[in-house]
Amino acid sequence: PQTREYNFTISNVRGAPAGVEKDMVVVNNIWPGPTIEVNQHDRVVIRVMNRAQNATAIHWHGLYQRGTPFYDGTHGITQCGIPPGQDLVYNFTLGDFSGTTWWHSHYMTQYTDGVTGAFIVHPTNATVSAPTYDTDSLIQVGDMYHTISDKLLAAFTSPSGIDGTPGDEPVPDTGTINGMGQYGVNGSQVGTCYKLTLAPNATHRLRIINSGSFADVRFSVDGHPLTVVETDGVEVAPYVVEAVQVSVAQRYSVLLTTNNTAGVYWMRAVVQEDMFTYDQPGFNGNALGVLQYTGVDNSTMPDPGLVDNNPGTGKNLTLMDTALLRPASKQHPPKATLTYKITVSFQVTADNGFFAFINSTSWTPLSGSPTLFSHLGADTVGANTFDNSQLILTSPNSEVIDLIIDNLDDGDHPFHLHGYKFWIMGTGDGRYQGQDVDDVVNPLLRDTHLIPSFTWTVLRFVANNPGAWAFHCHISWHMAIGLLVQFYTMPTEAAGLLLPQDMVDQCSTEGASARVR
Ligand code: C2O
Repeated sequence: PQTREYNFTISNVRGAPAGVEKDMVVVNNIWPGPTIEVNQHDRVVIRVMNRAQNATAIHWHGLYQRGTPFYDGTHGITQCGIPPGQDLVYNFTLGDFSGTTWWHSHYMTQYTDGVTGAFIVHPTNATVSAPTYDTDSLIQVGDMYHTISDKLLAAFTSPSGIDGTPGDEPVPDTGTINGMGQYGVNGSQVGTCYKLTLAPNATHRLRIINSGSFADVRFSVDGHPLTVVETDGVEVAPYVVEAVQVSVAQRYSVLLTTNNTAGVYWMRAVVQEDMFTYDQPGFNGNALGVLQYTGVDNSTMPDPGLVDNNPGTGKNLTLMDTALLRPASKQHPPKATLTYKITVSFQVTADNGFFAFINSTSWTPLSGSPTLFSHLGADTVGANTFDNSQLILTSPNSEVIDLIIDNLDDGDHPFHLHGYKFWIMGTGDGRYQGQDVDDVVNPLLRDTHLIPSFTWTVLRFVANNPGAWAFHCHISWHMAIGLLVQFYTMPTEAAGLLLPQDMVDQCSTEGASARVR
């Protein structure tokens, strides 16, 4: 194993990823931000220098932080915000995780403004079933807003809502592929196309990450089937599809084989509109990119007619059915020893606020007193510990937890668990009625799963990682209005952890300046 060092400078900039200038918050002046590419078991040291106007915290999505839960980067749970002008060094050793993941701000809705990037971990001992390929490329897709997220959040949570109806989430303006998109209608379109050049007659791995804030994105390449081989860092049995649908925060690797006829093709990342509740004027959810074979004249563009052949909605494409994804190495989850049941709902409160609830709790980060710190008895300046903003599910020993979720809402929610991966044991319509989930064969294992409206889901995980871990809907707007619950696992082992003093010190600044609801 090696030590890999990175410097992240966070700042407010003006950018125009889809041809329209907008306020952004980015790392090292680029978006997507720098890619972290390391090997399994490496040590990763990232100095985050916050030169932006607001506080920040950077989360390494999908990694386990075993022994270093305080570097999980979750504001209000594993750290206070890094104040503007200050630095924090994240320093952790990777465990068994390998595959495709990403990092992003976990401070309010800041990631929506551009604090995102890819995190690739190469396996040190490839398994026999490991996919083989000639090239490796990143495809970071997602929806994008032209307005800074603070403003959108304020409008979303105001009594009249963003469009006059409380609870209607801000609808994005466009979509992007690797930070490039197009805005406007044909003829008056602005923006640029991401261009990928690949050799003919070869197998290419594309690592698709949805680093957007709200909607699923459907990805396809004209004339090229895709073989899914990885979901969220788990190798899966090869599954050939025409399009991959990726929820916010999910990742898929696909293999694409180029043929021997040199050509130019459209890549499509289509932002799915089914979650939107109003029309956003000017919305263009069809982000186009170009796949060009080497040797093809650089000025050639695909036949624009091809755009309409398959008009971007992906409607006629054979879609991946996530229920058919199976881990390449067979899973035998142990029996559950502890069960927690939660409900997901949205309610208008007495003071006309619109909030999200897990059971009867709507999460808010506690100012100056993150969960992990207060549990470890750190001497921070947290003020409001007496309120109904924290629901913490505890697990005394290394329990096998079944988490039963009843989604009572009319929306779909991509839920993510920190510190672990979970098995998807069972799912069905309506509320959970005691169905037996133990007979599932080789269930999919991952860290982000889309829970459809009015359905139940059982997720299982072995709670053997000491620390405080968030489980939340990854839609930026829902996280910000409280759709989050915490697990506090292995408390006895956690009690032996030493909190870095600089992190404790940063809480005293936050106590005075934090923006909490
Ligand atoms: Cu991608 Cu709570 O994280």
